[in-house]
Amino acid sequence: MNKQTPQFDRLNRAIRNFRLLLSPVGELIHGFQSQTIPWHYCAGWMLFATALLTFKIDHYLLSKTGLNALYPYYQPLYRLYAFSFSTLGFWVWAWLQVKKKREKLATLTAAFKNAGLESKIGRLPNLISDFPIDSTNRKLRVTNAGFPLSKFNEQKKYLESELGIYVDVIKEDRELRAVDFIYSHIPMADNVVYNSEQKTPSFGFLVGRTRAHQLIGTFKQTPHLLIAGQTGGGKSTFLRQLIVHMHLHQKATKFLLIDLKGGLEFSLFENRRQFRVVPNVVAAIEELKLVSFVLDERMTLLKTHNCKDIDAYLTKKNLPGRTSLNRHVIVVDEAAEMFLAGNHANSKEIQAARGILSRVARLGRAVGVHLVVATQRPDTRALDSQVKANLTGVICFQMMNDASSISVLGNGRASDLPRVPGRAIWKNGMDMLEVQTPFLDAEEAEILLGPPDYIEKVKPVVEIVGELESSKVIPKTKEDYRVQKD
Ligand SMILES: Nc1ncnc2c1ncn2[C@@H]1O[C@H](COP(=O)(O)OP(=O)(O)OP(=O)(O)O)[C@@H](O)[C@H]1O
Ligand SMILES: [Mg+2]
Repeated sequence: MNKQTPQFDRLNRAIRNFRLLLSPVGELIHGFQSQTIPWHYCAGWMLFATALLTFKIDHYLLSKTGLNALYPYYQPLYRLYAFSFSTLGFWVWAWLQVKKKREKLATLTAAFKNAGLESKIGRLPNLISDFPIDSTNRKLRVTNAGFPLSKFNEQKKYLESELGIYVDVIKEDRELRAVDFIYSHIPMADNVVYNSEQKTPSFGFLVGRTRAHQLIGTFKQTPHLLIAGQTGGGKSTFLRQLIVHMHLHQKATKFLLIDLKGGLEFSLFENRRQFRVVPNVVAAIEELKLVSFVLDERMTLLKTHNCKDIDAYLTKKNLPGRTSLNRHVIVVDEAAEMFLAGNHANSKEIQAARGILSRVARLGRAVGVHLVVATQRPDTRALDSQVKANLTGVICFQMMNDASSISVLGNGRASDLPRVPGRAIWKNGMDMLEVQTPFLDAEEAEILLGPPDYIEKVKPVVEIVGELESSKVIPKTKEDYRVQKD
């Protein structure tokens, strides 16, 4: 054993030195992958260096200073010199990252030591990696040094102030014996008040505030939305501000609001010309049938005029007698109520409603009918997988566990969100960002909407238990949905 020790020491040292030499290469690869390399500086240097080499200014300068003996006249050496010189910008950046990492390691070591995260045999959590996961958040991975996750959680506040960071999530990877810290240097707002003056592009809505800026989405880019999250997360509040904002900025948009918790959340939108509020499954099914009718009518119209969507139709030149097409937004609060078998309607009707929502999800983009579905339970029993696949914009508030977060986002980020009402993950395609959604209470919303401007002549029937009796359901009228002549 003793005999081997010096050899081991030498081998260890060699490995350490080799890793140190390779570490800038690792940083470069990471920089390329996460797109954090400052391209303009590095490429700028490359251009400058290439110009120096091409016009042999480097040679001239060396000979002027009497250092021309240093110039690599030997061809292979010159190639190496030219490559290193022109890519120097990248290498300097990579070495700076290595230096920063080493400094971070020293700071971390001190912080973990002071936080009492040092084992009896002097083991401390050790830095494995630290890299950006989006424009504002980073992920720091350290070895757990034998400490349970609870110990790291206990020291969260201390570590935050010692390291000058804001930690959102601490997670454990038992297999790797590692602990991940998702953190940022910018604090996240715990409350963002809805601002009705906020400018948005046409058919735009406010998603929320990230650590860095206000996020805005549009129904043109993201035609359908899924709002998921456990109870109390902020789904209904999000819907309220979205509807109010759309209404204030896009007066012609019509809303069908299906509130399956008894109509309480959307009652403030009742008796208003642009809104149709239905508080039960039976009435919702009847209204959806009308939506289906609109889909057909608009599809035929687009086909007749050879237009791929309503924007193409509305902007097409030389189209006499053009029909003005309003956009429709169908909002369903608590979709599971509608799809899970209950006492409200028979299963044939429920299947029909599922079918219509599925058609809206597939065809709505082209004809300007949008779907916003909120649910506590985004599983396939509560929400058809085809509908879900078409809800490309997702706001996911806190989820109970990793499994439900994975079913919505494809990862566990929503179960790791802090317990702050209105805090959510916005997923649009591949982008995933943490946001604090805008808060608008019902009273303020009513003030912004102004007094009711319409008396609903026919109220939808209140509740029909058992088999659906469609004759008793009097929907608004087809005219409220159908295309209108200019
Ligand atoms: N963006 C927000 N900012 C601050 N507080 C919020 C925000 N959104 C919601 N809240 C608070 O959380 C409470 C619950 O919100 P909300 O009713 O919207 O949750 P929910 O997800 O619809 O719950 P449920 O599934 O039970 O209907 C609200 O009464 C409000 O006090
Ligand atoms: Mg709700």
